[in-house]
Amino acid sequence: MASAKERQEWFDQDFFTQGRKDERGRSIKGAKRDQDSPHYKFMAIAVTQVLGTEGSWLDIGCGMGWTVQHLRDCGVKNAEGVEISQWAVDNAVCEGIYHGDVVRLHRLGHENANLKVSGESKRWDRILCDRVLGYLEPIDAGKAIKALSLSLAPDGYLVCAIICSDHKSEEVRRNGAWGRKSLRSKEWYVGKFRKNGLVVDEEKTRAIVEPRSWDCVWVLWREEGAR
Ligand SMILES: C[S@@+](CC[C@H](N)C(=O)[O-])C[C@H]1O[C@@H](n2cnc3c(N)ncnc32)[C@H](O)[C@@H]1O
Repeated sequence: MASAKERQEWFDQDFFTQGRKDERGRSIKGAKRDQDSPHYKFMAIAVTQVLGTEGSWLDIGCGMGWTVQHLRDCGVKNAEGVEISQWAVDNAVCEGIYHGDVVRLHRLGHENANLKVSGESKRWDRILCDRVLGYLEPIDAGKAIKALSLSLAPDGYLVCAIICSDHKSEEVRRNGAWGRKSLRSKEWYVGKFRKNGLVVDEEKTRAIVEPRSWDCVWVLWREEGAR
């Protein structure tokens, strides 16, 4: 199993600038380089149509900040991101994208994470985590889901895209998005989210998923009793 350091180094210049390759280094037919993908704009438009533009937004695993920039273009005033890749942070699409320097998702919200503002862990009203959890080993993905829940405001929404092990990849690629297939099924992730107080909001998920057949995207929230 790759160490956290090795995994961090894996997200290098090639990862972000070459045509996409699968885990065995084979080119994925039709895959685009990240910066050419129409996915980010579609994502920003879809989530702001469903969740509005108010409040604080955090894009976790935001790469060079494409979606953060599109969220701002859609009218979100308070949007930022975090990333594990030093290369992506150094090559951001514009200034002021990142909250902190390099940040590991599975450390977010923890006691010694570097995301504390005035001594308190910050909570965001809207969190996006778009095709990131599939890169984490299941043990880190479990910690990351806890961190996502800790970082979300009590009545906030989390928009998460995961290409689960039981997902049909063609559906994702058709939308210009791609990502590593996770080692776990959709049921596993839903169970982990539920354990951390987050459940799928079916209506909002449908509103995002249906127009583009994005069935790897879920909108999650904390049910009233769990706030
Ligand atoms: C397929 S890219 C998705 C990027 C972006 N979210 C998007 O929608 O295109 C996966 C991203 O997750 C980041 N990443 C992977 N593991 C991470 C972790 N533990 N903490 C934070 N970011 C991570 C990678 O550096 C990369 O930018």
